[in-house]
Amino acid sequence: MNDAHGADAETAAMPLNVMEYEEAARRVLAPMAFDYIAGGSGDEVTLRANRAAFGRWCLVPRVLRGVGNPDLGTTVLGQQIDLPVLFAPVAFHRLAHDQGEKASAGAARSAGTIFIAGTSSTYPLEEIAPRAGLWWFQLYMYRDRDLTRRLVQRAEAAGAGALVVTVDTPLLGRREADERNRFVLPDGLSFANFLGTDVASMSEGSEGSNLSTYFRSNLDTTLTWADLDWLASITSLPVIPKGILHPDDARQAVEHGARAIVVSNHGGRQLDSAIPTLDALPAVVDAVAGGVEVLLDGGVRRGTDVIKALALGARAVMIGRPYIWGLAVDGEQGAQRVVEILREEISLDLTLCGCASVQEVKRGLVTQARCVENVG
Ligand SMILES: Cc1cc2nc3c(=O)[nH]c(=O)nc-3n(C[C@H](O)[C@H](O)[C@H](O)COP(=O)(O)O)c2cc1C
Repeated sequence: MNDAHGADAETAAMPLNVMEYEEAARRVLAPMAFDYIAGGSGDEVTLRANRAAFGRWCLVPRVLRGVGNPDLGTTVLGQQIDLPVLFAPVAFHRLAHDQGEKASAGAARSAGTIFIAGTSSTYPLEEIAPRAGLWWFQLYMYRDRDLTRRLVQRAEAAGAGALVVTVDTPLLGRREADERNRFVLPDGLSFANFLGTDVASMSEGSEGSNLSTYFRSNLDTTLTWADLDWLASITSLPVIPKGILHPDDARQAVEHGARAIVVSNHGGRQLDSAIPTLDALPAVVDAVAGGVEVLLDGGVRRGTDVIKALALGARAVMIGRPYIWGLAVDGEQGAQRVVEILREEISLDLTLCGCASVQEVKRGLVTQARCVENVG
C-alpha cells in the first residue's frame, strides 16, 4: 500500500538509523529482555553520558581533496577488517532472537569484521565459531580456575584470535530494572558454555536480579594484575583487558602484557557516574603512547561517533546494543543491516570530512564544541 508520498508501508517502517532500530526492537522484545539490554546501572548517568560525550566534539572538515568512495578498511592487532567497528561481547543473544549468537556471528562475518563471543553466550562457543569470520573470545574469570582454564583452552581450540578479559565486573553493577523485574533467563536458555556443570544455569528465587546473584556466587570478585599475568601464562593468545578508564591502569595493563586495551564502562552498566568513554580516551591513548592499540565502546550510534573516536586516538570502536537491536528485529539480516547503516554513514561522513581512508582521520579533524547539542 502506497502512502501519500508513494512509499509503501514496509519501506516506511524500515528503521533508517540505529536509534530507530532500538525503537523497533522495543516493540518486539519482552519487557524483561528489553530492559536488560537497554538498561544501565543506578541512575543511568553514565549510560546517557556516553552519548552526550560525542556531542561535545565537532568535526572540522577539509574540502577540495578529491575524495569519493573512501576506504574503510583497517587492521586491529594485525587482523584485517573492512570497517573500524567490531561486535562487542554481549551476553544472552537468544533473549533477542532464537538464532542468538550464531546469527550475530554470521552478521559480523558478512560485514567483514570481528565478532567477540561472550563467556555468557546462549550457544556454546563451538557452535558460534564456525559461523563467524574472525572472532575473539571474551572471558569472565570464574572463581573455579580449572573451569576458567578449560574455557580458555576451548576458545583457543575453536580458533579465537584474542582473549578479551573483562576487568570492570568484580560484581555486577546494580541495574535497577533487572532488580525490579527479578531478571532470570527464560526456560530453555542457559550459560551454554557450561552445559553439564553447576554454573550452567541461574538459580531462581533471588529477591532481585538473579543474574546479580549468579555473578556474586561464581565469578572471582578479587581479581588483581597477578590474575592477568596468570591468564597470559596459560594462553598464547593476545590478552586484551576490557573496561579500562584510568590512564594509570592503561600503563599497568601494558606492563602486564596487554596487547591492546578496550576503553569501556560496559555501556553504562557497571559503575554509575563512571567517566564517559570518549572523555577517558585521550588520556589512555597518551598513557600507552602508541605501545598498544586502543579500542573504545559505549554509545557509538552514528558514523560521526566512529570518526570522533578515531580522531581522538582509537584504532577502532565496538558496538554492543546496536547490533542486538538489529538481531531482535530481523535476526542475522537485521544485525547485518545495522552494520551496513553504520558503514554507509562512515563512508559518507569520511567523504564529507575530506578523508580518503580511516587512516587519514587525525586529531586535527575534531575540536571541542563551544555550543553543546544534546545528541540524545
Ligand atoms: C545486554 C548487554 C550484555 C552485555 N554483556 C557483556 C558481557 O557478557 N561481557 C562484557 O564484557 N560486556 C558485556 N556488555 C558490554 C558490551 O561489551 C559493551 O561494552 C557495551 O555494550 C558498549 O556500549 P553500547 O551498548 O552503548 O554500544 C554487555 C552489554 C549489553 C548491552
